[in-house]
Amino acid sequence: MLIDGRHQRTIWLENDEPGRCVVRILDQTRLPHEIVVVDLTDLEAAAVAITTMQVRGAPLIGATAAYGMALAVQADASDEAVDVAYERLMRTRPTAVNLRWALDRVRAVLRNQPREQRLARALEEAAAIAEEDVRICKAIGDHGLELIRDAARAKPAGEAVNVLTHCNAGWLATIDWGTATAPIYRAQEEGIPVHVWVDETRPRNQGASLTAFELLHQKVPHTVVADNVGGHLMQHGMVDLCIVGTDRTTRGGDVCNKIGTYLKALAAKDNGVPFYVALPSTTIDWTITDGVRDVPIERRSPDELTRMTGRTDDGRIETVSITPAGSPAANYAFDVTPAHLVSGLITERGTASASEEGLRSLFPEAGRTPAA
Ligand code: MRU
Repeated sequence: MLIDGRHQRTIWLENDEPGRCVVRILDQTRLPHEIVVVDLTDLEAAAVAITTMQVRGAPLIGATAAYGMALAVQADASDEAVDVAYERLMRTRPTAVNLRWALDRVRAVLRNQPREQRLARALEEAAAIAEEDVRICKAIGDHGLELIRDAARAKPAGEAVNVLTHCNAGWLATIDWGTATAPIYRAQEEGIPVHVWVDETRPRNQGASLTAFELLHQKVPHTVVADNVGGHLMQHGMVDLCIVGTDRTTRGGDVCNKIGTYLKALAAKDNGVPFYVALPSTTIDWTITDGVRDVPIERRSPDELTRMTGRTDDGRIETVSITPAGSPAANYAFDVTPAHLVSGLITERGTASASEEGLRSLFPEAGRTPAA
C-alpha cells in the first residue's frame, strides 16, 4: 500500500552483493513518527526483529521467520544449523501460529536438498510465502467487500459505512493489503464511502500508531478512539460492523487476537453489531478446538504498559513512565474471542460461519489429521 503516495511493502529482499542477501524491513517500532528501513543480515537479527516487534502481525511474523531461515542457511547450510535456526525463530513469539506454519514449510523444502542449493530454495520459499500472502489478503478484501457493500445498501445513499477495528490487522501486519483492512481498501477502490473507528490498542498502541498511519497515507477517513469507547459507539448506532484480525484461529472458530478484542466482541453482541474476523487460512490451527484453553497467550514486559513513547512538540522522541514506580503491572498481549461471538470468518476462499463446519466447508482438504 502507500506511504507518501509510493507503493511500499513491509519486507523485501535485497541482493547486496553476489551471494550475499539482505532482508529489508520497515521498522514498526519507529512508526508513525519516523520511517526507518532496517537491514536483517543474519538469523539473530531476524529473531530480534520479531521479538522486539520491529515486525509484527501474524502473517508478517511468518514471512520474517521464513526469511530468517534463509539468512541462517546463508551463514551455515548444515542440518544442525537449520534445526538451530528453526528452534531460535520458534521461540520468538508464542501466539501467532503462522510462525510455526512458515518455519515448518521452509524446513520441509530444505530436507534432502544438497547443501549448495539450500540458500536458493529457502529464499524461493520465503518469497513464495510473501507473494501468497499478498494474494490471500487481496482475496480476503474481495470477500469482505461484499459485507461492506451490504452495509452500505442498508444506509441512506452516500452515508459512510462505519467500521470499527482493533489493533493493526492492516498491511503493516502482512506483506501488503492487510486482512481486516483489505475489505476497507477494496471498498475505497469501489467508491463506497467508509469511515474507520481505530481503537488505540493499549498497551503498544498498534491502532493509534500503525492503523492510523496506514489509513492516513491511504486517505481513508478514520478517527482514533480510546480502547474503552467502542461500547459507547455501538450503543449509539455509530458502528455498522467490526472487522478485526486474528493470530490463531481454532478449528472450532475461536479467534485469538490482540488483547481487548474479546471486549469489543461482547459489546458488539450486546448491541447487535456484526463482528467479523478476517483471516488468512495460515492462521488456522487445525490441531486445537478450544481457544481459551489451548492458545498460548504471550505475556510481554510490563515496561510496555508502564512506559509510553511519543514525539514531543519540538520533534524529539521520548519515553516517559505513566504509573507509580512501585506498582506491579501485567502485560497480557492477546485474548480469545469464542466462536459464538463471531458473526463470520472472512477468508481467502469466502466468508464462513465461525465453526468447524464453516471452516471445513471452505477448506475441506485441511487438518484432517491433527499434527503430532
Ligand atoms: O502483537 P501484534 O502487534 O503482533 O498483534 C497483531 C494482531 O493482534 C493482529 O490483529 C493479528 O496479528 C492479525 S494480523 C493480520
